[in-house]
Amino acid sequence: MDVYEAVESRRAVRGFTDQPVSREVIERVLTAAAWSPSGSNIQPWNIYVVTGAPLAELKKRAVERVATGVAWDEREYEMYPPAMKSPYSDRRSAFGKERYSALGVAREDTEARMRAAIANWDCFGAPAALFCYIDRDLGPAQWADLGMYLQTVMLLLRAEGLDSCPQMAWSQVRETVADVVSPAEGQILFCGMSIGYEDTTVPYTRTGRAPLSETVTFVDG
Ligand SMILES: Cc1cc2nc3c(=O)[nH]c(=O)nc-3n(C[C@H](O)[C@H](O)[C@H](O)COP(=O)(O)O)c2cc1C
Repeated sequence: MDVYEAVESRRAVRGFTDQPVSREVIERVLTAAAWSPSGSNIQPWNIYVVTGAPLAELKKRAVERVATGVAWDEREYEMYPPAMKSPYSDRRSAFGKERYSALGVAREDTEARMRAAIANWDCFGAPAALFCYIDRDLGPAQWADLGMYLQTVMLLLRAEGLDSCPQMAWSQVRETVADVVSPAEGQILFCGMSIGYEDTTVPYTRTGRAPLSETVTFVDG
């Protein structure tokens, strides 16, 4: 698979089969992903891979917790600014509209939206997940390094015939995750990532992108 194909075929998959993902494949992907760039090569990612019984336990605890309406954990970072301006707010609401209409859920139906959202904490059925932590002393430039690393992981997963969904949703129940993975002292959970083989029977709408002219400026002769 060439890089263009990996980039274009990667999407946030929200329906996986229960086909297990071998440890060998995950190790191969994470070994290659370690070649991701980072400022001064500090490699600020701390990854916990969870499968099998510990993942089943984590999903159970997280889903039960969210379904019974237990409050979210106190935030360690803001997922989005409280007042997001255009064009970001427009793109976000376009995404929400697309996602919930694909699921046949009305925007104002909060209960149905919550039911759909709960699938996050079941990893959309995926048999493997990783959790990406960063030291709380590090700053925005190192958080950007995490993004490069995680995208590299997701592209390599494509090369292995695997799919993924990055999930900040896990940060909302970070204490439940911590109970299972026991992160090192002083680390913040950025996100989780579900990993597995796509369940091709689950319908989805491909998300769009802004035209190049909205996000790219060529400054040339
Ligand atoms: C850092 C990050 C966190 C995300 N968190 C979630 C999440 O919690 N749940 C979810 O379903 N999708 C999540 N997504 C997926 C985005 O919604 C998705 O990438 C975006 O809508 C573009 O769609 P595509 O990846 O399918 O092209 C996240 C993506 C990123 C990069």
